[in-house]
Amino acid sequence: MKRIFLAASLWAWILCQPLEAQNGEIKNQLKSFTPGALWKDNNGVHINAHGGGILYEKGTYYWFGEHKTEGKGGNVAQVGVHCYSSTDLYNWTDQGIALSVSNDPTSDIVKGCILERPKVIYNRKTEKYVMWFHLEPKGKGYGGALVGIAQADKVTGPYTFIRSTRATPQSWPVNVLDLHKRPVPEKYRAERANLNPTEHPDSVNTLGRDFEKGQHSRDMTLFVDDDGKAYHICSSESNSVIHIAELTDDYLDFTGKWVRAFVGRRMEAPAIFKKNGLYYFMGSGCTGWRPNEARSAVAPSIWGPWTELGNPCVDADKETTYRSQSTYFLPVAGKKDAIIYMGDRWTPENAIDGRYIWLPVEFKDGKFILHWYDEWDLSVFD
Ligand code: DGJ
Repeated sequence: MKRIFLAASLWAWILCQPLEAQNGEIKNQLKSFTPGALWKDNNGVHINAHGGGILYEKGTYYWFGEHKTEGKGGNVAQVGVHCYSSTDLYNWTDQGIALSVSNDPTSDIVKGCILERPKVIYNRKTEKYVMWFHLEPKGKGYGGALVGIAQADKVTGPYTFIRSTRATPQSWPVNVLDLHKRPVPEKYRAERANLNPTEHPDSVNTLGRDFEKGQHSRDMTLFVDDDGKAYHICSSESNSVIHIAELTDDYLDFTGKWVRAFVGRRMEAPAIFKKNGLYYFMGSGCTGWRPNEARSAVAPSIWGPWTELGNPCVDADKETTYRSQSTYFLPVAGKKDAIIYMGDRWTPENAIDGRYIWLPVEFKDGKFILHWYDEWDLSVFD
């Protein structure tokens, strides 16, 4: 009798559990996106992949992002880059830490450094997965303005840290001006503290100053074009100019071909997608963790010329990009022109609680726009 009761209880317990596949992934749990809500992974834990990007491979999406921890201190890297996988974009399986910070105090990626906005791309030639991220040495604030580069044989990692560097050292941009190659004029040197970078983005000549060791690279993203060429796009020159730089064939270095774009516009959070041969850009203003009004732009080539299209957000809270900041544009596999805006709603006072704002990209009058939806699914693209 006791045995029958135990067996029945066990069955009842099993039936109450979520439907799990053999690999532990919860199937058919979510069927929509709920921007700003808690997004739970297969273990019921809020997804921890901030400032992220997504790589699609053979039917699976891999989401890489900053693993944040609790409290204000959680904004610096205590753990590393977290990876999740999904076949439907709604339900995510925890794949663990793809790149771990180091306990070695001499490592560039020592625990406590700033490691932001990781992006992973696959290199067909080397058959390696390559990760780039914004890196700031531990305890130095945001003055380093470096990129970190790591590589792996398997998409989920482990990624091996290769090196850190400033962007495009010892090369001038395609659209360099003569004045960049001259010493900073004395009259601007004296005024440096009071310069308005919108009027005089070049008068501080950070470009010339940083020529040898390389240019600032803070907020960054990667973009792979249809021909397999990859580009690094970053906030440079003290966040006053966006730099767009071509990567070498193995995606591990800069070729030295690059341009300055949006000179003096002071933008962060760059993200790019391509549609019908046109390149679309989105970025934010520079207000730290506080959200601000987004900007968008279009160009016939990655090298420009870029034409600004204004704020892509159109509904209530558009002045704050729906309380988010861009991080990536995700093309949906198998659906033509279906692109998802991925943004972060930062919560710097408790970093781990940051939320994800994903919205469908829509097009109107030659611009892309973002409407707000409390809940939506991929059928909006049908
Ligand atoms: C805004 C950037 O977009 C974030 O990635 C982060 O660097 C914060 N600034 C830090 O204040």
